[in-house]
Amino acid sequence: MGEANNSVKSVVSSYLQERHSELHQAELSQRLATETADITLPVRLGPQGEGRIHPVSQVFDEVTEIFADMGFSVAEGPDIETDDLNFTKLNIPPEHPARQDHDTFYMRPRPDGTRLVLRTHTSPVQIRTMLKQKPPIRIIAPGRVYRCDSDQTHTPMFHQIEGLVIDEATHMGHLKWTLEEFCKAFFEVDEVKMRFRASHFPFTEPSAEVDVGAEAIGRPGQWLEILGCGMVHPNVIRNCGLDPEKYQGFAFGMGLDRITMLKYGIPDLRAFFSADMRWLKHFGFLPFDVPTLAGGTAS
Ligand code: DAH
Repeated sequence: MGEANNSVKSVVSSYLQERHSELHQAELSQRLATETADITLPVRLGPQGEGRIHPVSQVFDEVTEIFADMGFSVAEGPDIETDDLNFTKLNIPPEHPARQDHDTFYMRPRPDGTRLVLRTHTSPVQIRTMLKQKPPIRIIAPGRVYRCDSDQTHTPMFHQIEGLVIDEATHMGHLKWTLEEFCKAFFEVDEVKMRFRASHFPFTEPSAEVDVGAEAIGRPGQWLEILGCGMVHPNVIRNCGLDPEKYQGFAFGMGLDRITMLKYGIPDLRAFFSADMRWLKHFGFLPFDVPTLAGGTAS
């Protein structure tokens, strides 16, 4: 009896299942035939529409995007840095006068006498990268930097973007081309007026400072300094355990707040850090306006 019952049961349940899926299919077809979605309706932003991306974050993303397109990857280092990496390995030995220029925030000395500092520039990321990565190297390093300085055009914390290229054949011409291409893409112009002025940094030789013609931002006849750069000093390459006879390359350090003010016409540096919601509403970016090379930047 059991066997017979079981075979009846399986016939009945397979009919039930078949009918169930027929009904389900019919219901689905009917919904597809009658329901429509209007894909032209604008997206409702909801709470995200209230927030704003800070102009500095926006420009971090824009700059990263432009350099990524040129084959650079992003490297990082800590805000609290050793004296050795912030200065000594960058060819700024103790007692070197360049240390005074930096208005450094020093931590209390450690038992062994060494001191940690709030990094005064993003250049120590050059050292960190060369210590752990063999050439060819092509990185940018955006981040916060600190100097004990505060007035209308200086804040104790500000932002820089470091760049470093190390291989066997990179020269000053590559540096110029890279920076020119960057400026054209960043300021969204076909031609950009740039001026390389001879300068001095302990970690580069030769060194230059770069100004851009301010006509791009509606101030004809004026120049604005945006970065320092040069060919990486052989001592720096040697300090990272690489052979300067074999490897060479360029580096640059750009003031991020500076280029943000230039591009978006923001007059006062201090407002960047005042956490004023009205200011952020005015100069900030909507979260959906993420910058892409293909789509251009939002404004
Ligand atoms: N670190 C320098 C500063 O903050 C800027 C700089 C100059 C960085 C030249 C570089 C460079 O990488 O090559 O004043």
